[in-house]
Amino acid sequence: MKAIEIRNKYLEFFKKHGHAVIPSASLIPENDPSVLFTTAGMQPLVPYLLGEKHPEGTRLTDYQKCVRTNDIDEVGDNRHLTYFEMLGNWSLGDYFKEESIKMSFEFLTKELQIPVEKLSVTCFAGDEDCPRDEVSAKVWKEAGILDGHIYFYGKDDNWWIAGEEGPCGPDTEMFYDTGKPACGPDCQPSCDCGKYVEIWNNVFMEYYKDKNGYSKLKQRNVDTGLGLERMTMLLQGKETPFDTELFLPVMEKIQELQKVDNIESRRIIAEHLRSSMMIIADGGRPSNIDRGYILRRLIRRMIRHMNKLQIDLSELSNLIDINVDNLKEMYPELEQNRETIKNVINEEKDKFVKTLTHGEREFQKEMQKAKENGKNEIDANVVFRLYDTYGFPPEVTKELADENDMTVDLKGFEELFKEHQEKSRQGSTQKFKGGLADQNEKTIAYHTATHLLHQALRTVLGDHVKQSGSNITEERLR
Ligand code: ALA
Repeated sequence: MKAIEIRNKYLEFFKKHGHAVIPSASLIPENDPSVLFTTAGMQPLVPYLLGEKHPEGTRLTDYQKCVRTNDIDEVGDNRHLTYFEMLGNWSLGDYFKEESIKMSFEFLTKELQIPVEKLSVTCFAGDEDCPRDEVSAKVWKEAGILDGHIYFYGKDDNWWIAGEEGPCGPDTEMFYDTGKPACGPDCQPSCDCGKYVEIWNNVFMEYYKDKNGYSKLKQRNVDTGLGLERMTMLLQGKETPFDTELFLPVMEKIQELQKVDNIESRRIIAEHLRSSMMIIADGGRPSNIDRGYILRRLIRRMIRHMNKLQIDLSELSNLIDINVDNLKEMYPELEQNRETIKNVINEEKDKFVKTLTHGEREFQKEMQKAKENGKNEIDANVVFRLYDTYGFPPEVTKELADENDMTVDLKGFEELFKEHQEKSRQGSTQKFKGGLADQNEKTIAYHTATHLLHQALRTVLGDHVKQSGSNITEERLR
C-alpha cells in the first residue's frame, strides 16, 4: 500500500466513525512561541484539548505535517527523519479508552490487514500521579490482542506530554513485530534492537502538568499519532523509509549523479531536501535564529553531502523538481511553491558555497594546530568561529572532524551560541506572549483578525502572500 492510500484509508475510517476531517496546520506554528515547528498533531489543537469548543465538533481527524529536530544528527541511519507526517484522531471530551482502542484495533487488523500475531501493545504501569491502566489492557485483550503481547511500563515509556508543561496523560502504544529474531530472552517492545517498531500512540489526555505538578483537565481527551512513513515502510516490507515511494525517485537520481558512493550521504540529502522543501512551502526562510537557523542547517548539511558525493550543485533544481513531481499529490503546496522553493534553496546554496572553501581551509588549519598541540578535539571557540564567520553549522564541523578522527567541543559551542543569542536578543526584548493555550477574549479576537487580514491580503495581492507566524498580545496584533 502506498503512503497516500494509507492516509486516505485512515481519514475515511475515522470519518466513518463520526470524525470531522480537518486540514493539516502549517509546519510553522501560529502564535505559539513555545516550539519552532509543529511537532505533533495535537499541537494546533491545544486550546480545544483544554476545553475550548472546536467548530467541527468533538471528534476530529487529520494528517499533520511535522518537523522534529532533536534527532537531526541521526539522519542518515535507517530510520530517523526530521520531517514526517502524523495521522491522528481526537476525542475532545467525547469517547475515551474503550472506543479509542477498539477503533485502533479495527483499523490495524481490518483496514490495514495486519495479522494480530504481529501486534503487541503497552499500557501505563501506574505510579503516584496516575493509577495503573488496567482498563486499556482489558479492552486490548477483549479486542483480540494475544496473551503475552500486552506489556506495562512506567512514565518513561507510557506517558506523553509535548515538552515540560501542558495537557498530558498515560498512553497505550502499538508495536509491529518485524519478524527479526529477538536480541535476547528479554527482548520486548521497549527494546531498541529493531524487532519491535512503534506504530501508533493513543494518549489518554486527562491531566495538565505545570510547575506545581499534575491536575485534572476539564474534560477527558484522546490524542493519537501514527507515523505515516514508518507504517508505509512496514506494510511494504521495506527496511527503511528511504526504500518507499516517498523517497525512491530522489534517491535513485542522487545515486545516478554521484561520483562517490555513500548510502548515509544519499539519505541525508534526500531527507533534508524534503524537509527543507516542506518548511519553505509553509513560509519558512533561512536565517541565523530559531526556525530559520534550523532550515539553514538542513540546507547546508545537505550541500556538504552533495559535495561529498561530488554531485554538481547545479543539480539541486533537478532534485527539487523530482521531489515536487513525486510528492505533489500528497502536498499540493509543493507544486504551488515550486519556483519559490528553488529560489530559496539556490540562494542559500550560493551563500554557503561562497564561504565553504575558506571555512574548510580554516578547519584544516585549526585541526593541524590541535594535533601539533597533542589535542584530538576541536575547540569550542573554533567551532563558534566557523559558525559565525563561515556559516558552518556545528554538525558540519563535527562531520569534518569525524572524517578526520577528531572530536569537537559541542557543549562548549552550545554555551557560546547561547551567549551570542542572548546578546542579539537584547534590544528586542518584546517577549512573545501567550501561545494558543493562553488565550483570552481579546487575544482570540486578534487571532481571528490575523486570519481575516491574511485572507484580505491574499485576495488583493495574490496567493503568494503567506503568513509565517504571528505575534499577538492583548494590545495589538502583528
Ligand atoms: N501526541 C502523541 C504523539 O506525538 C500522539 O505521540
